[in-house]
Formats: sequence, C-alpha cells, structure tokens
Amino acid sequence: MRVLVTGGAGYIGSHTVLQLLRERHEVLVYDNFSNSAPESLRRVKQLANADVALREGDIRDGAALGASFAEFQPEIVVHFAGLKAVGESTEKPLDYYSQNVSGSLELLRLMTQHGCKRIVFSSSATVYGDAHYLPIDESHVLQPTNPYGRTKHFIEEIIRDWSASVPGSCAVLLRYFNPVGADASGRIGEDPMGIPNNLFPYIAQVAVGRRPHLNIFGADYDTRDGTGERDYIHVEDLARAHFAAITYAAKSHGCEAINIGTGKSATVLEMVKAFEAASGRKIPYQIVDRRAGDVARMVADAGKAEALLGWKARLTIADMAATTWNWQINNPDGY
Ligand code: NAD
Ligand code: WQD
Repeated sequence: MRVLVTGGAGYIGSHTVLQLLRERHEVLVYDNFSNSAPESLRRVKQLANADVALREGDIRDGAALGASFAEFQPEIVVHFAGLKAVGESTEKPLDYYSQNVSGSLELLRLMTQHGCKRIVFSSSATVYGDAHYLPIDESHVLQPTNPYGRTKHFIEEIIRDWSASVPGSCAVLLRYFNPVGADASGRIGEDPMGIPNNLFPYIAQVAVGRRPHLNIFGADYDTRDGTGERDYIHVEDLARAHFAAITYAAKSHGCEAINIGTGKSATVLEMVKAFEAASGRKIPYQIVDRRAGDVARMVADAGKAEALLGWKARLTIADMAATTWNWQINNPDGY
C-alpha cells in the first residue's frame, strides 16, 4: 500500500518504516525534524535497499502537508508526529495541544479532503493514568495525569468521531507501553536530545561513559525489589505491530484501541542487570527520591492485539538490552 508516515524519521517511526519497506509497502515520510535527523532515513534506505520519499514540514502546515497528499495519494496514514515528553508537557502545555491535537486535526482534515480513510495512530499507555487494576485492558477508564497524556486521549476521541463520520473508514489506536531497543543491525536506534527522560537510553549513556551513574527514582515501591515495574516492548516488535495494524486496517472498518505490550513486566533493577549482562559493563547507580507522577507498576493485557491483529511480542529483555547496547556502542554520540 501507499503509506504516508508522519514523524517517520523519529525513533519508532524509523524502525517502522524499515519494516514497511521490507514488506514492500511504498512509503512517504513527512517530518519537520524537530526531534530527529534525515540521517536515520538514509540508514533505513540502506538497510532495506529500497527508497523512501521524504518531505520536510510541520503537520500543522496544511499547504505543505496537503501537497504531500496530492502528490502521493496515500491509502493509509501512520501518524507518529508529535511531542512526547511528559515533564515538558506540564511546562509547555499549549505547545503540546498545538502540535499534537491541532496537528492531528489538520491531518484528519486533509485525509478527508483527499479520500484517505485509514489511519494507525501512536497512542500511549499514559492515557490510562493510574492503574485501577493490572494487567490493564483497553476498557480501563482513561484518566491521563499530565498534558501529554491528555493530548493522546483527546486525539483518540477526535479520531473515533472522525471515523464514525466517514463511511468505510478504519482507525487503529495503538497504545504503546514502554518502547525500548534498537534494530539488530546497530545502525538505527533511539537518539534523544539532551538528558534522556527515559530509563533505557539513560542506562545506555551511563554504560558508554557519557553519564557517570543512573539515578533510580525510588526503591520503596510495592514491587518485587522496590523499584518501578514496567512493560517494556522491543521497538522491532512494535514495528511489526504497525505492519499488522496496517494489514488489519486494509480490510476492516471502525475504530479500535489496542494495547501494545508484552504482558510481562520488569523492574528498574532487572533492566540494569539485563544491560550489565549484555554490555559486560557495570552500571553504577544511586537510589534517589521518587519522580513526581510515577506509579509503582504498569503492565498490559496484550490479548486484544493477538486476537484482532494476530500480533504478539516475541523479543525478550535480553534482546532489548543487547540491541540497545549494540546501537549505543556503534553510535556513542547518536546519529
Ligand atoms: P520521536 O520524537 O523520536 O519521533 C517523533 C517524530 O515526529 C520526530 O521525527 C519529530 O521530528 C517529528 N515531529 C514532531 N512534531 C512534528 C510536527 N509538528 N510536524 C512534523 N513532524 C513532527 O518519538 P518516538 O519515540 O518515535 O514516538 C513516536 C510517537 O509514539 C509519538 O507520537 C509518541 O507520543 C508516541 N509514543 C512514544 C512512546 C515512547 O516511549 N517512545 C510511548 C508511547 C507513545
Ligand atoms: C521507567 C521506569 C522510572 C529514568 C514514559 C512516559 C509514557 C511513555 C513511555 C510516551 C520508572 C524509572 C527512569 C531514570 C529511573 N511515553 N527511571 N531513572 O515513566 O514508565 O513512561 O515513557 O508515551 O507516557 O511516561 O518510562 O523510561 O521514564 O521510566 O529510575 O533516569 O524507570 O521511575 O519506574 P515511564 P521511563
């Protein structure tokens, strides 16, 4: 299919584009490079030995995005573009509402105008807020606790209403849990700007000597070893989930929210140990205060993804650690 990928130069986007090219889809990436660089796609093209059309622009720029629709006539959109830092979203909420919500509105308006009726959207487990029960299934109440999470919730509702108003449309809202890892080649991976917000890129930068030690945010949670427990999902499995969602959307109608996780969880200390085993390096750490807004445990009920998409995570924490290390050691300063 002809797939327009917004934000396709970013971390999850680049791995997904690689997967789509390998499956012989035709891809146009639309990205403003606010949190990425064209180099990721240059490497994706090399790895896939296939071409990707690339247009630089902001999703809120209707003229530029509309020109890409007119030129490429996409049959489906995979929508990654947006801002994603929880902490930053509390400081700059209007930026988040503008880029994420207004950007998605512009995208849907152009999809309608150009007769494109299918979308796969990057949502997040953050839409659930504090878990009332675990594992979390898709019917859990949605009560996000920060502006970023609220943008994802609002976009989900907007897409649901759009889908209901467009006969024959199909929307898949993928709620990712904690994406980590890199392509096995070590050529593409996560390349955060500044100090990483997330655990795994931080550990990787400690391992490679860019940072002295890891701060573990609390060891007094009600978990196996007192540190936070999360459902980490390998980015290669996540990329396969997008392929499965596209295949599903091509022959289905309606709007479905689907968790993308493994159904298993790991603590911070277990992730540190996995990384030490993969890298052969000691990860020095200090236990510090809890981070505001963190919860003790998050784990997905991943049953709907298997039932509807025929998708299931395959890769382990050892794979996540090994591929992250391979990416980091080969690209110590990122792209
Ligand atoms: P990323 O920042 O690496 O990728 C986002 C891409 O979108 C970047 O290439 C950026 O340049 C581009 N972009 C941002 N704003 C844009 C705009 N206004 N117009 C055009 N391009 C724009 O992030 P990622 O980790 O690959 O995440 C991709 C998507 O998945 C995001 O929507 C994010 O909210 C969602 N998500 C990520 C995680 C995670 O932990 N990484 C978890 C759940 C959901
Ligand atoms: C994981 C665990 C931390 C960093 C976030 C977003 C969520 C989604 C995924 C986008 C927690 C601990 C972390 C560090 C630590 N993103 N930690 N030291 O918070 O589960 O989820 O990313 O949609 O919306 O909130 O992921 O990687 O930040 O933290 O001890 O330096 O690691 O306390 O227990 P989180 P994370």
